[in-house]
Amino acid sequence: MACEITDGDRVSRIEVGRGCATAGALLLPGVTRAGIVAQPSVENRAVEIAGAIKDRGVESEVLVVPDGDSAKNLETVEIAYEWLNALGFTRGDMVIGVGGGAVTDFSGFVAATYLRGVDVTYLPTTLLGAVDASIGGKTGVNVGGKNLAGVFRHPARVVVDLDILEGLPVGLLQEGAAETVKAGFISSAPIIAEYEANGLEASLDVVVPAAIKVKVDTVQADFTERGLRAILNYGHTIGHAVEIVAGISHGEAVSIGMIAAGEISAALLGFKHASRQKAILENIGLPVSIEGIDKAEVLELMGRDKKRDSGGMRMVLLEDFTVPVVRHVGADEIALGLDAIGVVD
Ligand SMILES: NC(=O)c1ccc[n+]([C@@H]2O[C@H](COP(=O)([O-])OP(=O)(O)OC[C@H]3O[C@@H](n4cnc5c(N)ncnc54)[C@H](O)[C@@H]3O)[C@@H](O)[C@H]2O)c1
Ligand SMILES: [Zn+2]
Repeated sequence: MACEITDGDRVSRIEVGRGCATAGALLLPGVTRAGIVAQPSVENRAVEIAGAIKDRGVESEVLVVPDGDSAKNLETVEIAYEWLNALGFTRGDMVIGVGGGAVTDFSGFVAATYLRGVDVTYLPTTLLGAVDASIGGKTGVNVGGKNLAGVFRHPARVVVDLDILEGLPVGLLQEGAAETVKAGFISSAPIIAEYEANGLEASLDVVVPAAIKVKVDTVQADFTERGLRAILNYGHTIGHAVEIVAGISHGEAVSIGMIAAGEISAALLGFKHASRQKAILENIGLPVSIEGIDKAEVLELMGRDKKRDSGGMRMVLLEDFTVPVVRHVGADEIALGLDAIGVVD
């Protein structure tokens, strides 16, 4: 599968396939240097790609950044700028980000800002990176808060190689599955059918292109997040607060957040698929509740969340299967959702 996404100015080509993580797919025409930014876990792959790029007569070096979010800070950005400077980078050269969402966010930010913008392509190597972080043009690093410094800018290309994702450890497949199941409930019945039939063994050939399509179509309609893009936050309003208070992973928190949002949807809008959603998430091995966290702390974090507006708390709910709506919810409904996930007084 291949598709394009544009902000009206830059066009981003997204390719999904098997064995497609090649120098040819990642390299843009006409560049003389390719600076590869990679995580330690995929350093070997990055070095291999650099070798293949050099075989094509293009200079290429690899910068290994610290793992995960510990790369997403301004100190590491500065290290990357100095590295590009030492390589003699010009505006006609390019960056390639190889790794999970932390690396695509980071390399996208570096590329967007170095020399006021050089091209970048992404090779996402986690499921979450492939279906979420590398799609949609949000780049960023953490400064005090998460992703507080960043720009909206599409990468020139995203190359999703399912052979890489196939070999991921269970924990990383579950982490990504929280987002693919989310994409399914807001917009794609085939994703849900596949997880219902096969649990965590769901075919990546089915769920990855479908989840990418949900994100592409949604972002395409609303690049800078004024309206429709909000539906991608399904499960994230309560989920994000729970993630911070409980100190659990993003995927685990989104799973729990979807359970709460499903219950609120059932109460407010007559949503009939809350128990189906719960069964799917449980079957994947994602948590559906959380014990022992402070309700007041969760509420306080939700109140601070950017999805709040002057009319109260806005949340993405489901009117029906694959029919998301953004609704104002009151304290009683939120309490109902929190109750369903075990967050009680
Ligand atoms: N830009 C966006 O729209 C967007 C959306 C969602 C998330 N994000 C960001 O993405 C990040 C989370 O993404 P993530 O879950 O991919 O995290 P990550 O990049 O931290 O990767 C998770 C772990 O997987 C390891 N890893 C990567 N590829 C691997 C492979 N092939 N085999 C084995 N291990 C591998 C990494 O080294 C790391 O330890 C966060 O920083 C988040 O803010 C951005
Ligand atoms: Zn998310």
